[in-house]
Amino acid sequence: MTIAELHAEFDALRVDELRLRSSQKWSLVDPDVLPAWVAEMDYPLCPVARHVLRELVARSDFGYPVIDEHLKAFGDWVSREQRWQVDPALVSPVADVMAGLDAAVRRLTAPGDGVVVLTPAYPPFLEMLAHLGRPIRECQLVDTPDGWQIDFDAVADALAAGARAVLLCHPHNPTGRVWSPAELRSIAELADRHGAFVISDEVHAPLRSADFVPYAAVSASAASHAVTVTSVSKGWNVPGLKSAVLVCQEATKHILDTMSPHEKKHASVPGIAVATALWRDDGGWLTAVRSYLDRTRDRLRAWVDEHPQVRWHRGQAGYLAWLDIRELGPNPAEVLLREARVRVVPGTDFAPLGSAAGRGFVRFNHATSLPLLDEMLARLGSVLD
Ligand SMILES: Cc1ncc(COP(=O)(O)O)c(C=O)c1O
Repeated sequence: MTIAELHAEFDALRVDELRLRSSQKWSLVDPDVLPAWVAEMDYPLCPVARHVLRELVARSDFGYPVIDEHLKAFGDWVSREQRWQVDPALVSPVADVMAGLDAAVRRLTAPGDGVVVLTPAYPPFLEMLAHLGRPIRECQLVDTPDGWQIDFDAVADALAAGARAVLLCHPHNPTGRVWSPAELRSIAELADRHGAFVISDEVHAPLRSADFVPYAAVSASAASHAVTVTSVSKGWNVPGLKSAVLVCQEATKHILDTMSPHEKKHASVPGIAVATALWRDDGGWLTAVRSYLDRTRDRLRAWVDEHPQVRWHRGQAGYLAWLDIRELGPNPAEVLLREARVRVVPGTDFAPLGSAAGRGFVRFNHATSLPLLDEMLARLGSVLD
């Protein structure tokens, strides 16, 4: 399919069909609610993934997977797409991104060790660290006229006070920031100075709309203490297929050595097969999604510019917008659900209890058709006007 044909398919999404999906986004809302909450995209499945899944069924092919080709396809993809050379011997499949992050945190830190998190942060980061008994060393991003910025002094203080790792989200959920090489190098220098590790979640990178440099590729210093976890789950919208990769460096390969053999076998057969094919694909579908997401971002920008009650720094990747709507009170998500019948994620979910980060904000998912986005924005506007 051409990009124009794919865009026409995206434009033609139908609410009645979307409501038939069994996944969370559309099935956990009332029939009059439009969902812009959980990070799922509404676009029909990439034809390559559709083909692979049909072929697996046709061949009754659900035995134990062979992973060499999978790891090679990943290495070739990051080399092509991100100019990053990875050693397949230092890569392991894992069940999903959170499983990979969990494996890394468990092995690079001990219970009681602090872990730096830039807030607002993807809520499962906070839940995972609480569950593992690693105190969260919160470093709030700073809202500047140029967009969200890292408070490097806060990161330095947290590391000086004993935090053993930084859990980075690059590109960042929920702001959509792609951290620049200079910002990544600053984190690397701080981590090096304090002997800390950096665990980088790069699952949103395929949906970049700006240059993206992986954390581990930014400098020798970064590579000396990095672990990366990524997946096709966000870029191609297949988190339910359960497959991700954990990418170590020489200095962090003991993670792989100490993982139990069965932990490396939790990725699913359909997930591995689909990811292998997507990484080998020429990128046509991804190119179409990226340019469509740029359009949805433009539409959101125009709407925000017409509504001075809303503030937003446009992101450079993904499809999540971090909207400041404090004029609706401390919990605008509640007001928008009640009065606009649009479900977004409350900003307070993105920070530890008691933190000010996220108060008055919502996370808005704009990965839908332009007509549906227009309808959602009209509903939100009716509450604000
Ligand atoms: C930053 C980030 N990491 C991880 C995940 C979850 O990935 P997975 O389903 O592969 O664990 C998400 C999902 O939205 C995410 O935004």
